Amino acid sequence: MKKITLPLLAAAVPMLLSGVARSADIPDTWSKNCASCHGPDGTGHTKAGRMAQVKDMTSADYQKSFTDEQATKQIKEGFKDSSGKERMKAFADKLSDGEVKALVAYVRSLSK
Ligand code: HEC
Repeated sequence: MKKITLPLLAAAVPMLLSGVARSADIPDTWSKNCASCHGPDGTGHTKAGRMAQVKDMTSADYQKSFTDEQATKQIKEGFKDSSGKERMKAFADKLSDGEVKALVAYVRSLSK
């Protein structure tokens, strides 16, 4: 009994821990990198959010206006308006592909 369960536990514990760490990190990543403009809840009711003219991410209509691919691209490359003014920073060199993917899912979860 002991011989079987111990190796299994040894394999399962790091897997469980890394899963927990990843999901717990995303709200933290959001609050550090995104909430200044988009707000902790995604409504964008912040000073920087008003200046950058972000839209309300809790709106299902707004969520429908972009695809996951577009969201991924924008998080990586940022967003400039037609006059070339940067309104959202590029995060490609700050965040891993996995983090960007998790953030897209997080953004989707903000929709009401
Ligand atoms: C400097 C302010 C600012 C920061 C910081 C910021 N954003 Fe944005 N974000 C914007 C603006 C502005 C828009 C575009 C609103 C519009 O469509 O006019 C936007 C749009 C988006 C969109 C919609 C993309 C699309 O294709 O329309 C997503 C998704 C997004 N942001 C995610 C994030 C994530 C994730 C972070 C943190 C890693 C982040 N943003 C940080 C300003 C910001």
